[in-house]
Amino acid sequence: MDPINLTKEFVKKELENEGTGHDWWHIERVTKMAERLSEEEGANPFICTMAALLHDLADEKLNESEEAGLKRVNQWLDQVDVDSNQCKEILSIIQSISYKGGHGPELTSLEAKVVQDADRLDAIGAIGIARCFTYAGSKGNLIHHPGEEPREGMTKEEYSKRDGTAINHFYEKLFNLKDLMNTKTGYQMAEQRHLFMLNYLDQFYLEWEGEK
Ligand code: ADP
Ligand code: NI
Repeated sequence: MDPINLTKEFVKKELENEGTGHDWWHIERVTKMAERLSEEEGANPFICTMAALLHDLADEKLNESEEAGLKRVNQWLDQVDVDSNQCKEILSIIQSISYKGGHGPELTSLEAKVVQDADRLDAIGAIGIARCFTYAGSKGNLIHHPGEEPREGMTKEEYSKRDGTAINHFYEKLFNLKDLMNTKTGYQMAEQRHLFMLNYLDQFYLEWEGEK
């Protein structure tokens, strides 16, 4: 089997029982989107696909540390004979794309931009809303608390506690993503998904007050 199919099998097994929105289907959606964006933006499809497949395996939430996670990914890439330059590129993408409360590094490679956009598109729109509530539920956080204002300008540490309500997460992260998109195609899709979330919240607040 080629590295891509071997990696699909590997990641599927690893994330089978993941309950916080990083399950295999998230990976599959991000990989498909990364393939689409790479085609439209002229990025290297192999690098984008491999980075999308592996992007959440090194996550701090799934490993002892980010470093331990990256080492595991590195070992996997060696095992499937990805050459060392490509391996470096893939690892650098995985390391650089996560949100970190808006404190991630500036991206330089087109492939990193494509994979970050694909990952972020999965955090917004109808799917993004579903993932947001799933994540909040997995942490025991509330759907909404009218007395709790969304926080602005959180530090990386504050953001990483992930202790706000699901509705506040819309304001603390999801609504910021549209203007942070890197690619033109990604931005156009983000605009539509953004609008869908705004409409969703309009209805949510009306229902909250028993008005509609
Ligand atoms: P990814 O980089 O794959 O989007 P994250 O770890 O940032 O992963 O988040 C996984 C999913 O859970 C995303 O859809 C994200 O918006 C959502 N999420 C993260 N933190 C929170 C939170 N505090 N409350 C609700 N949803 C959250
Ligand atoms: Ni992800």
